[in-house]
Amino acid sequence: MPPTFLLYGATGYTGSLTARMAIRRGLKPILAGRDPAKVTALADELGLAWRAFPLEDGTALNLALREVPVVLHCAGPYSRTYKPMVDACLRTGTHYLDITGELMEHEALAGRDAEAKGAGVMLLPSVGFDVVPSDCLAAHLKRRLPSATRLTLAFQSFGGASRGTMISTLDAADRPGMVRRAGVLEPVPAAWKTRTIDFGQGPVSCTTLPWGDLATAYRSTGIPNIETYIALPAAQRRVMKSMRYLGWLLGSKPGKATLMRLAQALPAGPTEAERATGYSLLWGEVSDDTGKRVASRMRTPHGYTLTALASLTVVERVLAGDAPAGYQTPAKAYGADFVLEVEGVTRGDELQPMDGAPDPR
Ligand SMILES: NC(=O)c1ccc[n+]([C@@H]2O[C@H](COP(=O)([O-])OP(=O)(O)OC[C@H]3O[C@@H](n4cnc5c(N)ncnc54)[C@H](OP(=O)(O)O)[C@@H]3O)[C@@H](O)[C@H]2O)c1
Repeated sequence: MPPTFLLYGATGYTGSLTARMAIRRGLKPILAGRDPAKVTALADELGLAWRAFPLEDGTALNLALREVPVVLHCAGPYSRTYKPMVDACLRTGTHYLDITGELMEHEALAGRDAEAKGAGVMLLPSVGFDVVPSDCLAAHLKRRLPSATRLTLAFQSFGGASRGTMISTLDAADRPGMVRRAGVLEPVPAAWKTRTIDFGQGPVSCTTLPWGDLATAYRSTGIPNIETYIALPAAQRRVMKSMRYLGWLLGSKPGKATLMRLAQALPAGPTEAERATGYSLLWGEVSDDTGKRVASRMRTPHGYTLTALASLTVVERVLAGDAPAGYQTPAKAYGADFVLEVEGVTRGDELQPMDGAPDPR
């Protein structure tokens, strides 16, 4: 049997999309999750092997991880799920991949770099939309301007979010905004700054939002000052600003429980048609202390399609033996151009057309 991988959280929207795409690429993941009924239903439908166990069951986790060289962990919110999986990977010598966008998880895993190197294990979180394209864009910009001391990254998405993403976003709603200054993470108010950015389709208003890139781009490029933005309509910007005053309420146990109940009623995620027509645009800019500046743009398939494609591209690299030990970012492990290996991704430098990009309008 050729080596395969464990796909934990396979029953979720993104996990199941990834399982289906894996089969199309000739991969045969072992599907796993905490709910035996859901896991067996999916495994039977796809003709794949399965394992069912909660993350709290350390013995079952060890057994499942010992069968494979790598796990792709798709169960979130990661603030609750990453630690038992990472601990078990370090115990069993299994490479760890996930699709988190959560900044503080990166900070925690970066602190386990020496432990991972000692175990010969790669810890590579965020192999999805957040942060493969933006991390590779940051590394590309640093390559264009090696003296850069400031980095700004922004994205605009078309095509909707999954229930799981909404739950993870609500889970973190009481946390402050964040930027990186002189190499240090610095809390700022929610929706702290607004800036007009042209992703290639005309200027749009963007607002600061703490992405995982505040951790990853710093480690991929060494640039000490980083801000991350998202394009949002005015109404959503106002909601984000209100978090400055409602954070205490959203962070309270009853407040969070009510939000989670409401979120459970949302659809699982974008439909196939929405994913087929949706896409994302990224823009990044670096500057140095002499005033030099360069900017580049990127276009990707819909965020969830990109997440499945990018995470499977990483899995294939790992299965081929390309898994540098220690805490990694996508660009540190595989280089600035890695994202261009993912089907449908294009990149262009400012004032140049994006080679091969279809007209997005
Ligand atoms: N960064 C990115 O670009 C990106 C892209 C896509 C998704 N994500 C993140 O990935 C996560 C999953 O997203 P999704 O859309 O697939 O969500 P989803 O449809 O709600 O699926 C969540 C999955 O996680 C499992 N799960 C949740 N809590 C668990 C726990 N405590 N122990 C074990 N399993 C648990 C669920 O199992 P049950 O079915 O048993 O409840 C389900 O399989 C979210 O955190 C989301 O934010 C990130």
